Amino acid sequence: MIEIDPFDQDAGGLRRAFACFPSGVTAVCSIVDGEPVGMAASSFTAVSLTPPLVSVCVQDTSETWPRLRSSRRLGLSVLAEGHDQACRSLSNKTGDRFAGVEWDRSRGGGIFVHGSSLWLECSLHAEVEAGDHAIAILQVHGLRAEPDTPPLIFHGSRFRRLAAI
Ligand SMILES: Cc1cc2nc3c(=O)[nH]c(=O)nc-3n(C[C@H](O)[C@H](O)[C@H](O)COP(=O)(O)O)c2cc1C
Repeated sequence: MIEIDPFDQDAGGLRRAFACFPSGVTAVCSIVDGEPVGMAASSFTAVSLTPPLVSVCVQDTSETWPRLRSSRRLGLSVLAEGHDQACRSLSNKTGDRFAGVEWDRSRGGGIFVHGSSLWLECSLHAEVEAGDHAIAILQVHGLRAEPDTPPLIFHGSRFRRLAAI
């Protein structure tokens, strides 16, 4: 067992440890001031059925989340196999994040990525400070699920595919 220094600013060992846990990747996006704004987030978790709540954890340093968080509706797309380039684009620090990303918008302004495994139309329900991240708890207002569309997998800092056993 390796001891963790809670004040280690680099936290490389902890990053590699957290990367042992596989996840999907979501895109959290909406129209802000008439333009599409969004970011990739692998920290998605289903939280509650009644009321329907999900969460994503957002870095305190994010410049995108402060723009997204005041949207009346946020589109959350669970990215599918083949969306790896879209995911990279949606996490770029510079340039048009939506270049090469096909999307639709809802009447409320949520943006949804074409071909995703799941679309959730959400609003911000609560935000909880948690270390260098905020846990954004989102209320789900609508959904479109495509259970036969395999999701993109993120594990060990790389994209992978689901395999049946
Ligand atoms: C696969 C992947 C997963 C990511 N997951 C998260 C996440 O859960 N939370 C987060 O704050 N940023 C996450 N990011 C980083 C953001 O997508 C984005 O790069 C970051 O918010 C920096 O841009 P910003 O300052 O414009 O917000 C992830 C990036 C990638 C490529």
